[in-house]
Amino acid sequence: MESLKLGSLEVWPPIVLAPMAGITNAPFRTLCREQGGGLFVCEMITTRALVERNAKTFKMIRFDPAEQPRSIQLYGVDPVTVGKAVRMIADEDLADHVDLNFGCPVPKVTRRGGGSALPYKRNLLRAILREAVRNAGALPVTMKMRKGIDDDHLTYLDAGRIAVEEGVSAIALHGRTAVQHYGGTADWEAIARLKEAVTEIPVLGNGDVWSAADAMRMMDETGCDGVVVGRGCLGRPWLFRDLAAACEGDRERVRPSLGEVAATMDRHATLLAECFDSEPHAVADFRKHVGWYLKGFTVGSDLRRRLATSVTLADLRQGLSELDPAQPWPEGADGPRGKSNPRDRVHLPAGWLDDPYDLAVPGADAELDTSGG
Ligand SMILES: Cc1cc2nc3c(=O)[nH]c(=O)nc-3n(C[C@H](O)[C@H](O)[C@H](O)COP(=O)(O)O)c2cc1C
Repeated sequence: MESLKLGSLEVWPPIVLAPMAGITNAPFRTLCREQGGGLFVCEMITTRALVERNAKTFKMIRFDPAEQPRSIQLYGVDPVTVGKAVRMIADEDLADHVDLNFGCPVPKVTRRGGGSALPYKRNLLRAILREAVRNAGALPVTMKMRKGIDDDHLTYLDAGRIAVEEGVSAIALHGRTAVQHYGGTADWEAIARLKEAVTEIPVLGNGDVWSAADAMRMMDETGCDGVVVGRGCLGRPWLFRDLAAACEGDRERVRPSLGEVAATMDRHATLLAECFDSEPHAVADFRKHVGWYLKGFTVGSDLRRRLATSVTLADLRQGLSELDPAQPWPEGADGPRGKSNPRDRVHLPAGWLDDPYDLAVPGADAELDTSGG
């Protein structure tokens, strides 16, 4: 296995923490980075908000001084604004790597032509990539996308070719269409097809990697150059230790006891409180992680509820102290976590599918949403 080469950046092991809005903030990235190496992408940042120097957005791109490389994912629909955002990142040394999000399936975004709807407009995609790369200087620019809008409107092979032609450093493919949302299983065959079609730059596979064994299987079956892991690390930051070990040829797996999980939960919430400068905000943000951390363990419903409704760190720690620290890692606790629902349709602007080549730029309101992939 080789290290992942993104322009002049070299990443070992070839493992990427997928950008996840509301999850992959600096505290979560720290927890994952402490386990093993790789590339750890921040939450999605809206290009317009960055260019307008929105204070909340600037807080979202704070990195721990030890974090290297610093990776920012941008979401934008307007080539000019994307170009300005990338130039700002390069000129002001805000990050070492920029990823562009073309995978967001949230209706609010696709309805306006953004996210996973955008690659259907080949020339608009090309214009965005061109402006991003032109303004990036030495920073590598990568893109993350889905297979297409639905099975009748697949875009990933065209998008891959356009990305190569515009000087993008790597492409990540989530093996689902927009209409699939997070339902069904990811199509690793499509990752293999993209890898066959794109030989000039690394192709990264994404979708349904829940364990290090899955990551190794994805690389074997698709030939991809690296693996992007999203929901698999929800409540499982130590998955990065397994992934790093597997890349070194070691099959040892981390199987923490409930006491070790509780210590990680405490640390996660504490890091959030330090980062947010607000304990109530941090504890509220942490609530969504509780079920993921405890999945598979035997914990009474009353204690689970108290942990998931804590208001202060003291409440949370009281609950954690009531967990049985000796309870071993449960068999079968590795299964799916997080979003898993399909959609029945993709909301698109009127007439969006009529012409794959027109260059109309979606309105500024396509940039309002700040969540999702
Ligand atoms: C809560 C959540 C938030 C996400 N936010 C983003 C995002 O901001 N940008 C992005 O490109 N993908 C986003 N995604 C998609 C993931 O990066 C990834 O492509 C997807 O979850 C499939 O990979 P997985 O099966 O390993 O989870 C998000 C996924 C989840 C579950």
